[in-house]
Amino acid sequence: MTEVAKNLRPSDPQALGSDERDREASIRPGRLEEFIGQVGVTDNLRVYIDAATRRGEPLDHLLLSGMPGLGKTTLASLIAVEMGTGFRATSGPVLEKAKDLVGILTELEAGDVLFIDEVHRLSRVVEEYLYSAMEDFQIDIMIDQGPNARSVKIHLPMFTLVAATTREGKLTAPFRARFGIQEKLEPYADDEMLRILHRTAGILGVELDDEGGRTLARRCRGTPRIANRYLRRVRDFTEVSGKSRIDGPAAEQALTRLGVDVFGLDALDRKILEVIGAHRGEPVGVKTIAVSVGEEERTIEDVYEPYLIRRGYLSKTPRGRLLGPRAEEIPGLDLPPPRIDKLEDRGLFEEESTE
Ligand SMILES: Nc1ncnc2c1ncn2[C@@H]1O[C@H](COP(=O)(O)OP(=O)(O)O)[C@@H](O)[C@H]1O
Ligand SMILES: [Mg+2]
Repeated sequence: MTEVAKNLRPSDPQALGSDERDREASIRPGRLEEFIGQVGVTDNLRVYIDAATRRGEPLDHLLLSGMPGLGKTTLASLIAVEMGTGFRATSGPVLEKAKDLVGILTELEAGDVLFIDEVHRLSRVVEEYLYSAMEDFQIDIMIDQGPNARSVKIHLPMFTLVAATTREGKLTAPFRARFGIQEKLEPYADDEMLRILHRTAGILGVELDDEGGRTLARRCRGTPRIANRYLRRVRDFTEVSGKSRIDGPAAEQALTRLGVDVFGLDALDRKILEVIGAHRGEPVGVKTIAVSVGEEERTIEDVYEPYLIRRGYLSKTPRGRLLGPRAEEIPGLDLPPPRIDKLEDRGLFEEESTE
């Protein structure tokens, strides 16, 4: 694929350079009232925060789930802002051993928000260790070794665990049950995306007109991180072409150059669908897809598939991935027709009756 398309990992934070991370920080809402959309979630949170504050207690533990880039990390940090408490952030894969967690827990101060990102990647040992910290605000640690080894109880300050996951289904039931509050973020509607784009444009100091905004809003998968990313790139293209304002045609042209089609699909999305299509109705394992498109399995599953599934372009079955019912609506996809016997297997093919 072209360099441009390859650089375009829509919502993988790891793909951002440090420079972009800084700018990411500057456009992140700093107060809950600046957080656009997800009204059901933010309304609930406001009530819980208000109630907890009145009682002088920390907020109950909170699980935030949803696709990458929808605002989970932002919301977690906003909770600390609204509660007026400290914020400590870590992530599932970083906490390899129980002692990694102990280090963080024992440094917490009363009321702090402990944010664990990608919590579905927490090891089982660490997860189970977290249970007593969450429920009783205490942990047992082993001191000394050999015959002198003994376990000592440590009391922790009351804190709020805010955990984020892109894969809610991967959490064990006992873990999930320990979160008093569970909220799911959904992709944003186009008009919400438009407001987010205008807000970001204001911060970046670029002029974005309504049509330019709508063009971008439609094609960023209802995901603020993608919208902000496209906006920055579109600004580059617009500036270089000597214009000062992002209007409809400018947005359109820039998105096309970025390899983003009218459905908001980028080159890798299309490649994934083409790989599945090439198997002509045979279910394809995610491993095969990952190897064929040169991307990590996890990224395919967490970043790309949710949107493709949502739009009906891809179906997940126990035996592998198939093209979804709406895949054929995508223009320009190189798809050989599925084999009839495979369709019969799936009960999708019926002999036409002659009346
Ligand atoms: N509701 C929102 N309103 C405005 N900007 C948002 C909103 N949600 C997310 N963003 C922007 O999108 C970016 C990605 O959000 P983030 O919280 O990192 O997503 P997640 O943690 O779910 O992957 C943030 O930098 C922020 O600027
Ligand atoms: Mg995040």
